[in-house]
Amino acid sequence: MKFATWEKVSFGLLIGAWAVFVPHILGDFLVHADPLDKPAYAVAAQEAAAAKPADGGAVENALTLLAAAAPEKGAKLFKKCKSCHTVDKGGKNTVGPNLWDVVGRAKAGGAGFSYSGALKDKGGDWSYADLDAFIANPKAYAKGTKMSFAGLKKAGDRAAMLLYLRSLSDSPKPLP
Ligand code: HEC
Repeated sequence: MKFATWEKVSFGLLIGAWAVFVPHILGDFLVHADPLDKPAYAVAAQEAAAAKPADGGAVENALTLLAAAAPEKGAKLFKKCKSCHTVDKGGKNTVGPNLWDVVGRAKAGGAGFSYSGALKDKGGDWSYADLDAFIANPKAYAKGTKMSFAGLKKAGDRAAMLLYLRSLSDSPKPLP
């Protein structure tokens, strides 16, 4: 059988077209992108909602959980804070102020640290309740604070953290 040139050319084109088309269809079939049931960002939003107490109001108070909390757990949780805070007596200020003896200390009162106006304006000393509120959500407690930390959302975690902060002292302040 002899093919004319135009026949060879059209066969070539046909086979060429299939060579492109078939993998395309197969590819679609194999790598079929299912649309997501829920948009991915909804998950983060749901998690944020779950972190809030059921009444949707104020953050749960950690002070009621102090009796059941352990400072050792707070020490572990402090990993989240270590990048910005030292805790030893006379320790350096880094990104944030040194936290030795912070319970009962004047707010924004660490020596030699340049605090935000937001924290300086708070006034008074760090009570357990105020520390609880600050650590739960720094930006909500002191709008404009320099502490870029989302907060410890679980009251149990904050109770442990409060006990740990309390332990950073030669004479730990009495519990509330
Ligand atoms: C990204 C850095 C960063 C992280 C992480 C961070 N902090 Fe801070 N923290 C700061 C800065 C900066 C300030 C000073 C805030 C200001 O001046 O507004 C501060 C202030 C504080 C204060 C007030 C101290 C004072 O002298 O008035 C406390 C208490 C505190 N942080 C506790 C914590 C705890 C507990 C954690 C971990 C759960 C934590 N911080 C995580 C940066 C950080």
